Amino acid sequence: ASGQLWGGRFSGGAADAMFALSKSTQFDWRLARYDIAGSRAHAGALQRAGLLTGDEHNAMINALDRLEANVVDGTFTPADSDEDVHGALERGLLEIAGPELGGRLRAGRSRNDQIATLLRMYLRDTLGAVRADVADLITVLHDQAEKYLGAPMPGRTHLQHAQPILLSHQLLAHAWPLIRDLERIRDLDRRLAVSPYGSAALAGTSLGLDPEATAHDLGFSTSVPNSIDGTAARDLATEAGFVLAQIAVDLSRLSEDVILWATHDFGYVTLDDAWSTGSSIMPQKKNPDVAELARGKAGRLIGNLSGLLATCKGLPLAYNRDLQEDKEPLFDSVDQLLILVPAMTGMISTLTFDTEKMASQAPLGFSLATDVADWLVRRRVPFREAHEISGACVRYCEQNALELSELTAEQLASIDERLTAGVRDVLTVQGSIDSRDGRGGTATARVRDQLGEITAQLAKL
Ligand code: ARG
Repeated sequence: ASGQLWGGRFSGGAADAMFALSKSTQFDWRLARYDIAGSRAHAGALQRAGLLTGDEHNAMINALDRLEANVVDGTFTPADSDEDVHGALERGLLEIAGPELGGRLRAGRSRNDQIATLLRMYLRDTLGAVRADVADLITVLHDQAEKYLGAPMPGRTHLQHAQPILLSHQLLAHAWPLIRDLERIRDLDRRLAVSPYGSAALAGTSLGLDPEATAHDLGFSTSVPNSIDGTAARDLATEAGFVLAQIAVDLSRLSEDVILWATHDFGYVTLDDAWSTGSSIMPQKKNPDVAELARGKAGRLIGNLSGLLATCKGLPLAYNRDLQEDKEPLFDSVDQLLILVPAMTGMISTLTFDTEKMASQAPLGFSLATDVADWLVRRRVPFREAHEISGACVRYCEQNALELSELTAEQLASIDERLTAGVRDVLTVQGSIDSRDGRGGTATARVRDQLGEITAQLAKL
């Protein structure tokens, strides 16, 4: 039957429901051009092994070129009777090259090493596209941080006011995990750059083909050292699923900040009209849908990763058909990020911050209490005691409805004699921020250093 690669020992065709279950062209067709690239490299391996003459090799490459042109312009597509991308393309090749020549190409390879190779090629390319999109997002986080450098805001732990920080410090705290995601893509690419082609079904091939040459023809740096591992391993697929899910989780956390900051209660940020939506019933509404969809999609990508891991768990070596289930979750995670990340970039690049609102909130909630304690420590008070004294200031302020910066010299002295008037110098947001000037701290000079570090890292990734 057409598109059937394994008819010989069977007396009848597959049952309809069996075929419907088995069929994968509806999702694996997107790998068609990688399959054709693999076929070109494989034709070269067959020629070098003396299994195709020079003329046959030329004719094969011409046929594959025509097939690819037909795939690209849409004149060749999978038929209902095609089981998978490999079968459909063999049918196409036979139509162009005839059964005599076309029927030679399958020697020494299996769909098992083909699909394992194609998936790695696909992941290398698409992770490269994700990489570029994430780099754009890092760039706009950097640019916003640069634009607002110096603007203070409340820093929070447990969502409670903790210590004043720079808005830029917070924005860059969202950029660094994305830098690490780019590092993960780069590291993973080193492992993906190993070709399984030549592993055949599981044991390698007896036909004298050179997997290393095929690997180089396909842009890989080397070939797999073990053909069983080459056909059966999907740890690189799950690793890709993880990197993609981690990116989504990082975007989700950034989104949660945007969602909170855009509430009336916070009022730190205004979303650009182009990157927000309205309500069909409430005329005043402006909703942060980009950020909410990012949060939602993170759940979806986590699900894709969990599904991939579950598919791989407890499989016997080597190839099992279960592995056909590896593709849809990966394709989905890639597709979702390629839609989501550019939207995040648009939303972040157009945020306008209410720096006055943020600055006015920065000292509230006794966020300068640590500065009082640190001031005492610099005057040789043990931190344990300093913590107690500063806590007493907070209690006094709470009882008298004051902020720490409003305490008079007399009130300070009445709380503890070691609290001389000089402490009032550190009870400012700017003083607090710029005193945290060790590497990685929120001081303006250190955040300026970070801007430079981000730029340098991005240039390397
Ligand atoms: N469609 C299969 C997959 O996606 C290709 C390999 C099929 N191999 C086989 N022996 N049935 O994994």
